[in-house]
Amino acid sequence: MIGLGTMGAGIAEVFARAGIGVVAIEADAAAMSRGVGILDASLSRAVTRGRLTAAQQAEIRSRIRPAAGFGEAAAVDLAIEVVPERMAIKREIFAELDRVCSPDAILATNTSSLSVTAIAAASKHPGRVIGMHFFNPAPVMRLVEVVSTVLTTDGVTAAASDLARRLGKTPVEIGDRAGFIANALLLPYLNHALHLMATGYASRADIDLAATAGIGLPMGPLALLDLIGLDTALSIMDVLHGEFGLPRYMPTPLLRRLSDAGRTGRKAGRGIYDYAESSGSDNDHQGGNSRASAAAPKAVTLIGAGDDVEAELASAMATAGINVTRNAAHPTDLVLIAAEAGRPVLPASLAAGRPQQSVGLHLVGKLAAGTLAEVVQTSLSSADAIAAGTALAAKLGLVPVRAPDRPGFLAGQLLYAHLADAVRMCQEGYSNPTEIDTAMKLGCGYPRGPFELIDAAGAATVLTGLEAMHEAYGYPEFAPPPLLAEHAAAGIPFSAGPRPGR
Ligand code: 3HC
Repeated sequence: MIGLGTMGAGIAEVFARAGIGVVAIEADAAAMSRGVGILDASLSRAVTRGRLTAAQQAEIRSRIRPAAGFGEAAAVDLAIEVVPERMAIKREIFAELDRVCSPDAILATNTSSLSVTAIAAASKHPGRVIGMHFFNPAPVMRLVEVVSTVLTTDGVTAAASDLARRLGKTPVEIGDRAGFIANALLLPYLNHALHLMATGYASRADIDLAATAGIGLPMGPLALLDLIGLDTALSIMDVLHGEFGLPRYMPTPLLRRLSDAGRTGRKAGRGIYDYAESSGSDNDHQGGNSRASAAAPKAVTLIGAGDDVEAELASAMATAGINVTRNAAHPTDLVLIAAEAGRPVLPASLAAGRPQQSVGLHLVGKLAAGTLAEVVQTSLSSADAIAAGTALAAKLGLVPVRAPDRPGFLAGQLLYAHLADAVRMCQEGYSNPTEIDTAMKLGCGYPRGPFELIDAAGAATVLTGLEAMHEAYGYPEFAPPPLLAEHAAAGIPFSAGPRPGR
């Protein structure tokens, strides 16, 4: 293991837990001692949680041997480089490995952003160089992307995949393209989320809640950026932008500024959130939604499409003791428009004649406790109406977030372009729905992969959402990919697999 930073230490732990001996190489004694500290903290945590006994901890720890230098890599079967993402350093390391390792050893890089081909081409034996890309936290996330290049020798990819399985991970084999599968999909979505925060589209806490409570992801995109590191995220975005050139891949300026400022995330104690112990109040991602403190309205005018959602909302409000009328002329505290995806709230609020007292309410899922409720504020909604709408949603047991009256509201803004990226990756022949879903579930903890999400919502619904966003913004990332339109038109789920003739 060359490099014992957060990822290197995590990967070393994975090997040692699988019974494989690890020789750890670091630049100097201070770096080695930091790395060993990360390793020991992770193993101790597992003991505290009752996942390992003290004896198992000692046994695992004994398999990892800090080495004095590269010479000790002579006897290894596999070397994995996990050092900072700078090509010059990687090349130096591969030159050393070429010199020291036996000719049969596999040389792997855990690079997340550099070209494996460029690293291999600089080696004396490019055929044995491969990418083995692990995910953070390495002991937990089950994916390994096994990246082969046009230079990789037969058998090396299969050997790396077998090894990944021996480590208890699931390999996904792919070619060398910027971002591979998971980062190429994940990072543009995270970058877009930061852009929404930077431009004031929605608040930091609401963006993260929309992803967790609305889409069901294990972490919000902004908290995840802090976990990955804003500097790492920036370098991946730069590489994606360099390779694909599309505006979608342009790092949002705030990502660069935070990274330049050293606010690189959890590892620095501060990124998008503050992790210093004294700043608990700043860590709104860890707490509930504090803004539902205004009193919930006592009387509400409900305007809807006459559908089930409207009926369920009316009944839930009545059960919560709120007077509900459909008559906009009644002097109620709030006009609530049951909002529909892809349809603006403002026209309905104008038609009701009390636009200042109106907000939309869009449910992301069925009306039930814990469902995300987007409180849609039009350009005429008053602060009181927004506060009342938020308090009302909280009173109904929903999770309120505020969103502007724009296509996609908040969850759709985050999700639809992300799903379109996955479809495009498949359309370009780089991967397929099964592998993309596996990569996102095992690498990023998604409960459902992008194609499972599309199938659950219906390709036609996602298509309509993208069309509305594309029409409103004109951004190319919202342009629906033809493959999605084909599935929507034919009514075939992606889980049906490739069609005959494709
Ligand atoms: N090291 C070791 N173990 C860890 C850990 C860490 N840093 N963080 C969490 N864990 C373990 C815990 O000990 C616990 O184990 P146990 O169940 O055996 O007791 C388990 O993970 C669950 O942890 P928690 O209960 O504390 O927390 P959560 O249930 O909230 O899960 C999470 C934490 C696993 C990080 C989850 O939030 C998640 O899956 N998040 C998404 C992470 C993600 O997307 N990673 C990929 C980023 S992209 C990347 O890495 C590629 C790179 O190139 C940029």
